[in-house]
Amino acid sequence: MNISHLFSNEVQHLKSNLIIVTDSSEHENQSQNNESYSLQWKMVDEIEEKKKAWAMQKRWYLELYGFKTEANLKSFLTDKQVILDAGCGLGYKAAWFAELAPHATVIGMDFSESVYISSEYFQTHENLLFVRGDIADTGLKDNVIDYVSCDQVLQHTEVPENTLAEFNRILNPAGKLAVYVYRKKALPRELLDTHFREKTKELSYQEKLEFSVQLTELGRKLSELHIELDFPDIPVLGIKGGKQDLQRFIYWNFIKCFWNPELGEEISNSTNFDWYSPSNAYRYSKSEFIDMLANAGFDLDFLHEEEACYSGVANLLPNA
Ligand SMILES: C[S@@+](CC[C@H](N)C(=O)[O-])C[C@H]1O[C@@H](n2cnc3c(N)ncnc32)[C@H](O)[C@@H]1O
Repeated sequence: MNISHLFSNEVQHLKSNLIIVTDSSEHENQSQNNESYSLQWKMVDEIEEKKKAWAMQKRWYLELYGFKTEANLKSFLTDKQVILDAGCGLGYKAAWFAELAPHATVIGMDFSESVYISSEYFQTHENLLFVRGDIADTGLKDNVIDYVSCDQVLQHTEVPENTLAEFNRILNPAGKLAVYVYRKKALPRELLDTHFREKTKELSYQEKLEFSVQLTELGRKLSELHIELDFPDIPVLGIKGGKQDLQRFIYWNFIKCFWNPELGEEISNSTNFDWYSPSNAYRYSKSEFIDMLANAGFDLDFLHEEEACYSGVANLLPNA
């Protein structure tokens, strides 16, 4: 498939389904993020483990953006001709869109080395192509995209406001943006997260991996206690009380120690690695999320909130 007409400058295909626009960043944190994701995407070898995580991620996507069912997502994609999965990681969501919208051209863009893996995995999808590049500077022409899906990515980009401005530029006026950000959590957890992210910059890959394994082990041990307590509210610290499992209470309010027995150890380790490794990982309150979108010319017509995140589907404001 040739998509060079969508780009402002001439692009070179590395393979029939792979284009490189940019593979390095001048920003230290973004470079560190790229490196960290390049390593993370190679962490889980077991394809069956990955498939389990991907199935869970797809179910979650339908909730995050209000589609509820795959049939609704398919119908939403019917009139979308060019779809961008911005920060596609291993590309399974881009592949999903390509399967649900065979009439469309789907582009999966990522700044990490993941695109080399995804372009291998999904080489039989004829309407799907991967691009290594910065979603804040895509190289795409104005107004060429009908749907930007930016799932679990915006907070990792160098300046999220600039990334949104780029989405505004490349989307056609009737285009839609699905976007997700991390939610600010209780004060002790926020302070520890900020501290750890600084600290992990000094650690080697091996040390970060060991740290992730220790966090998984902590999460597993706490969760296997099966202790439920009625915790007090501590509003000064932003801690919400009520009846909760001990591991969940510690997880949300103090330290991310992810453990999911269904997903298993490798995925749990990779999830803990994903949290503390990338240097850019901004968190937002609900009003900060809505304001950031409005300032970039977007109006949310669907908003979803969970303890971990805010997400939604936005339209471009007229003349924005
Ligand atoms: C948490 S992962 C999410 C991957 C995928 N969207 C998913 O839901 O499975 C974040 C991804 O965003 C990518 N990313 C971060 N900053 C980026 C940027 N400026 N341009 C392109 N990709 C970026 C990372 O390399 C990583 O693959």
